[in-house]
Amino acid sequence: MKSDFVLGISAYYHDSAACLIRDGEIVSAAQEERFIRKKHTAKFPSEAIQFCLNDAGVAWQDLRFIVFYDKPLIKFERLLETYLTFAPRGITSFITAMPVWLKEKLFLKNLLRKECGRIAGITNLKDLPQILFGEHHESHAAAAFFPSPFREAAVLCMDGVGEWATTSAWVGNDSSLTPLWEIPFPHSLGLLYSAFTYYTGFKVNSGEYKVMGLAPYGRPTYVDAIYEHLLDVKPDGTFRLNMDYFDYCTGLKMTNEKFDELFEGPPRTPETNLTQREMDLARSVQEVTEEVMLRLGRTLYSETGQDYLCLSGGVALNCVGNGRLLREGPFKGIWIQPAAGDAGSAVGAALSAYHQYLGKPRTIAANGDSMKGSYLGPRYTNDQIEQILKKIGAVYCRLEEDQLLEQMAQHLASEKVVGWFQGRMEFGPRALGGRSILGDPRSKQMQSVMNLKIKFRESFRPFAPSVLRERVSDYFEMYTDSPYMLLVAPVLEKRRVQLTEAQHGLWGIDLLNVPKSDIPAVTHVDYSARVQTVTEATNPRYYRLLQMFERKTGCAVLINTSFNVRGEPIVCTPEDAYRCFMRTDMDVLVLEDMVLLKQDQPPVPEDTSWMQEFELD
Ligand SMILES: [Fe+2]
Repeated sequence: MKSDFVLGISAYYHDSAACLIRDGEIVSAAQEERFIRKKHTAKFPSEAIQFCLNDAGVAWQDLRFIVFYDKPLIKFERLLETYLTFAPRGITSFITAMPVWLKEKLFLKNLLRKECGRIAGITNLKDLPQILFGEHHESHAAAAFFPSPFREAAVLCMDGVGEWATTSAWVGNDSSLTPLWEIPFPHSLGLLYSAFTYYTGFKVNSGEYKVMGLAPYGRPTYVDAIYEHLLDVKPDGTFRLNMDYFDYCTGLKMTNEKFDELFEGPPRTPETNLTQREMDLARSVQEVTEEVMLRLGRTLYSETGQDYLCLSGGVALNCVGNGRLLREGPFKGIWIQPAAGDAGSAVGAALSAYHQYLGKPRTIAANGDSMKGSYLGPRYTNDQIEQILKKIGAVYCRLEEDQLLEQMAQHLASEKVVGWFQGRMEFGPRALGGRSILGDPRSKQMQSVMNLKIKFRESFRPFAPSVLRERVSDYFEMYTDSPYMLLVAPVLEKRRVQLTEAQHGLWGIDLLNVPKSDIPAVTHVDYSARVQTVTEATNPRYYRLLQMFERKTGCAVLINTSFNVRGEPIVCTPEDAYRCFMRTDMDVLVLEDMVLLKQDQPPVPEDTSWMQEFELD
């Protein structure tokens, strides 16, 4: 019987991506940024699409449908209506945006056909498969529910904005998704968070993670001001923003002078010193976000009576909020789409068309979920890697797995930093042991070394631990799977280091270099950690490395950070990995069975101009 192949695409906003499914099974998925080396790119995902099709050996003619993740006409209606409501304030951005919309985006179907025809080498565009359009939040909801391990569940999507919805609630049952209610633009939890991201001097749609990381250094001093002036939250969690304080409707900037007045100063200039004020602002917006997430979760639970919850949309990357929802909320279990932002909607769009449009049944994975650990991107064989290494003149040796793991565990235990490249590249923003940089979490200096000498990023940023699944409760207050590093949990009381008398008065960034536990490099200032649990089934070689490290050191945890420097997309190819390895203070590089030591490599010219290559995030 002929298979049903569906290609999902998300593009033209941020985090462009493609996904291929075969008879409802997710076969491959990747973000365009990894191929063209531009973080969060909005470009049409030509490279990602070609990877997905080539990897599966699927021709364009084999596709049943191409599905785009949102509906441009409704988005246009929202933009137009918003501009008109706020006219004449947004006239400049209106004039900038409209020609692009009128020329390209409004006729997106034609543009998509042209782009697909171009990469397919098809001149008669009638020969292309039919193009369908999903709705933005429906694609999020589908990405959250269909790959989840649950037969039925409540579904909550929270993001900045797509068409009109910014928050939406659904019930998933087998192969169907039923909408319950939504909160429309401009009232948006994602945009509120982004407004504070902008105001604290970070990049919108990218620096939200930093605000979350900064929050534990701060005090919740602005919570009352947020509730009093910016956000009206009802007991059921639904909310309205007071638009007097925000300028995003006019497309000019996120916040305005009134916002500055309320928080007594202008936005922080990016890259200038962070002060306690930014930390307090971060803590305050984080607390408010968590409270809204908890209330919405409780409401959805009482409305649906479902035991399980699925989450998606950019706000679902707020792993501190997710962790609280799991610990303090009413649900028995929570599953979060690992590519919770718009990239994951390529998966959702394809699955939605398959189950809801074609009416095909859904198969639930026997163990865990259907995202395959999110290892859905390109992989390289040992032979391919050897060829590449020979071509670039790298010095390497090829090892059997046992020897390789033994050596890596030894390097890690002696505080060496290891670039770890094996298997398929991860889909979504987190590296999960396919394209990771690893270190020893017991080391007191590792956080600072890895931030400043390896990643070239801000010193306050915490690192996350990978832990053997069966040992997670020996380190963290966590009793479930967290395969995608999207749940934050407290480090166990017994592992914490109590502050000395002299340290008791310290607050904020002054606490940065005070060890908090026996795994200090992955313990945040508030004793929390963003945990990834690793199983043999999803990533056998990484699992065995963790086992080997535990055998050697008694510690079943490693630092796992993404394989890139600040502003750079996660590495995709062995060439990307080698380049990143040579530009940083990483000590060892593993590419499948190949091991490279920094000291053996031919020197590269002293040149730091590459640092300008990546726009700072
Ligand atoms: Fe979205």
